[in-house]
Amino acid sequence: MKKYLKYTFYIVLLIFVAIQFMPTNYNLSDVVSENDISKKFDVPSEVQQLFETSCYDCHSNNTQYPWYNKIQPVSYLMEDHITEGKEELNFNEIGSYSKRRLKSKLKSIISQLDDDEMPMFSYTIIHRDAVLSEEEKEQIKDWATSELDKL
Ligand code: HEC
Repeated sequence: MKKYLKYTFYIVLLIFVAIQFMPTNYNLSDVVSENDISKKFDVPSEVQQLFETSCYDCHSNNTQYPWYNKIQPVSYLMEDHITEGKEELNFNEIGSYSKRRLKSKLKSIISQLDDDEMPMFSYTIIHRDAVLSEEEKEQIKDWATSELDKL
């Protein structure tokens, strides 16, 4: 029995070491996009700050990677969230969205905050500073509502 445990341990260790060689595509851009949110909307600096702290790691062209992102499978999971998150909503590219898509995204921002879906729970358990207070959620929702009225 003890022997099997030892084998299991070595196999798990081997898999862990092997996946460390999986390549990672980093989400890092040093170009300021012409479709950035700042070029399309008037965003109060407090609201912009909240987006940057709580949303930008998955919804922009730049992620601030923590040191443990160098470890697999963290890196793989993060990359997956970023790819999916950016596809849905990218604050650096939002200016290129059609009016219809913009409306839908602004509405979706409000509903995601109402339902406590965003920022993702698996993210906030580690990134405590990304957690939004009720007041901060209201600030973002007020901004989105006023932009919706203008569209
Ligand atoms: C850890 C990564 C991560 C963070 C941080 C994050 N999101 Fe997301 N977001 C995703 C992923 C992945 C999806 C797509 C899958 C889903 O809807 O669950 C998504 C989807 C969304 C959608 C849905 C788009 C649609 O068209 O329905 C909105 C809106 C959104 N996020 C807003 C936000 C806002 C606002 C914040 C910050 C307060 C935020 N997200 C923080 C990963 C993230």
